[in-house]
Amino acid sequence: MDIQFPKKFLWGVATSSYQIEGAHTKNDKGKSIWDTFAHTSGKIKNNDNGDIAIDHFHKFKEDINLMAEINMSAYRFSISWTRILPKGKGQIIQKGIDFYSKLIDELLSKNIKPLVTLYHWDLPQSLQDEGGWSNRDTSKIFADYAYIVIKELGDRINFVSTFNEPAVFTIHGLADGYMAPGISDFDHFISSVHNVNLAHGLSMQSMRSIRSDLELGCVLNLGPCIPCTNNKDDIDASRIYDMYWNRIFLDPMYKGKYPKDFLEQIDKYFRNGDMQIINQKSDYIGLNHYQHTRVKADPTHLLKARGAYGNEKPFNLENVELTSMNWEIAPESYYKQIMELKNEYNDPIIYLTENGCSYPDKIENGKVDDFKRIEFYKKYLAAVQKAINNGANVRGYTAWTLFDNFEWALGFEKRFGLIHVDFKTLKRTPKESYYFYSEVIKNNGFNI
Ligand code: NOJ
Repeated sequence: MDIQFPKKFLWGVATSSYQIEGAHTKNDKGKSIWDTFAHTSGKIKNNDNGDIAIDHFHKFKEDINLMAEINMSAYRFSISWTRILPKGKGQIIQKGIDFYSKLIDELLSKNIKPLVTLYHWDLPQSLQDEGGWSNRDTSKIFADYAYIVIKELGDRINFVSTFNEPAVFTIHGLADGYMAPGISDFDHFISSVHNVNLAHGLSMQSMRSIRSDLELGCVLNLGPCIPCTNNKDDIDASRIYDMYWNRIFLDPMYKGKYPKDFLEQIDKYFRNGDMQIINQKSDYIGLNHYQHTRVKADPTHLLKARGAYGNEKPFNLENVELTSMNWEIAPESYYKQIMELKNEYNDPIIYLTENGCSYPDKIENGKVDDFKRIEFYKKYLAAVQKAINNGANVRGYTAWTLFDNFEWALGFEKRFGLIHVDFKTLKRTPKESYYFYSEVIKNNGFNI
């Protein structure tokens, strides 16, 4: 094999609850901020929503079979907070716990390791009504939710991530309002960042109070920031954006300190002892990476700097191959990011918790020939192997994603899956990339 991975490397896929589960009111499930946002006219492309999504709630056995058939060894999924606690706290729904319990049993029966994420953006609406993440109490309430998850399921899971991409849901949810809950307010944003960091630390403490041998960490979206021109404004903006996008969670969680400029901004929210709470011992870093970000100065943006988001084109860039999200294909940035974690964050254990691409795939003669996705994976996996050869301690890779699903503000238009989904019939059809991935798993590598 040209590209070979270490023994015991974990291979799998990642998903998230709101994007696939559907069954949005089943068994008294409570509303999350994404239910509210998606039902607000004009917020989501084509006014799509995740009410049914791909109905994974009812089809999870069939779906797990599709993982087992190609011998995946890991499945990263998230728990919907409001399926267990409709209001985020208080009343517990046993049937909600039962759903995840059955899902976990099914995975274990197929030798697939469950990698659990506690929070993939679906904050209970009731908590949002009390201030959401800008309310310091939410951190403690989150830690109580984490405790319940481990109390109920901790006999069969040991790998848990507290948050998925905290920079994305705070920047896009609370600074520019592009995502749920659609707020654009600087104070709300920065206080929330601090409270999410606290929630990370408090929940690690509460989970470890039940089981001290859990593998715990956070999943962060990280990637190099590049000024979109050589103008001083854009160069400065790139530094600012790097702080918000890459450091305001990673540094306190993994280094025990905030970037200096950010610390000044949150001064009024910071209490003695907070950093000790945030900076718990972590067992790994979960890295989500899709591309680097070309940053421009933008005085109208709350952060004064921004990268392209949604499916905007990268700023100031011509003649480069883009995916259908208008994302750049830049595997060298993936390599760079992994090596930065190794070199500047104390050589951590790294799980590559998300990476993938979207293309407008179609079924033709019963087949989905997504050769561009296969090319993408080959390039990005070669970058991973290069990082491993250079000493990075990478333990596993979960591709984003198994199925075409609800892509947040872009609705069902963007297809990221290894398996095609017909959103009317919900029929699943493996794409050629699924068969490619099956060979990668079988050979623990591939030929270029
Ligand atoms: C990262 C997010 O975690 C996931 O929910 C999203 O669908 C993918 N990126 C693709 O945008």
